[in-house]
Amino acid sequence: MSWFVQTCSSSVGKKYIMALTGFMLGGFLLVHAAGNTSIFWGRHAFNSYAEHLHSLGFLITIAELVLLTIFLLHIITGISLFLQNLGARDSRYAVQKSAGGRTWGSRTMPYTGLAILAFILMHLINFHFVDHHQPIADIVKPVLSNPLYSLFYGTAMFVLGLHVSHGFWSIFQSLGINHPKYNSLLRCISWIGCILIAGIFIAIVLLLLFSSSQLA
Ligand code: HEM
Repeated sequence: MSWFVQTCSSSVGKKYIMALTGFMLGGFLLVHAAGNTSIFWGRHAFNSYAEHLHSLGFLITIAELVLLTIFLLHIITGISLFLQNLGARDSRYAVQKSAGGRTWGSRTMPYTGLAILAFILMHLINFHFVDHHQPIADIVKPVLSNPLYSLFYGTAMFVLGLHVSHGFWSIFQSLGINHPKYNSLLRCISWIGCILIAGIFIAIVLLLLFSSSQLA
């Protein structure tokens, strides 16, 4: 057991935890984005999707607890790595010098991560900790047809895209999937993942802002 604790508290162990939890969170985002595309088919499709999810009962509660644990692990390990890098300038250089060089995504990782955390808290207040006796369309519509919220959500999705663009790339690096011959392909896969996730969410925000009848 002590080898496990030791591995998890080492820099390499923490990188693996970030890669694994990041991969799972990326999976959640893809599923969440895909499920939310039911908005494109109108009020009835979106309400049916949410009702189907809620009908899963305790399975959903378990999934939420697992998701919360993964989020917490990712955030706590990320903050710990950030502080570790701040404290040791030499190792900071070693950790930051990735095979793909420095990008906007990699430079801003801790800050975009904290911004996403703030967004998620707001998002849960908007859509999760509300009276679920009313149809989900009536919960989402007033929020996303408000231009101020749309701006907030749109900006958050852009920040999410920046974070995820480096996140996917970083997962490959941490798992040792890194070769000069394939690095541009890996960079390309990271961008496709990022554009897919952020793109779907941004499309939903724009749709609800400009087409007020979509969920009517
Ligand atoms: C246009 C963008 C989005 C829309 C319309 C949307 C919609 C929703 C809705 C309706 C719920 C409540 C589900 C329910 O309880 O019935 C929800 C929950 C949630 N959303 Fe989003 N979401 C969006 C973007 C995001 C993003 C970008 C993230 C993460 C960065 C996210 C993370 C979550 C989480 C963690 C929950 C709680 C999951 C649960 O406990 O069941 N959402 N979202």
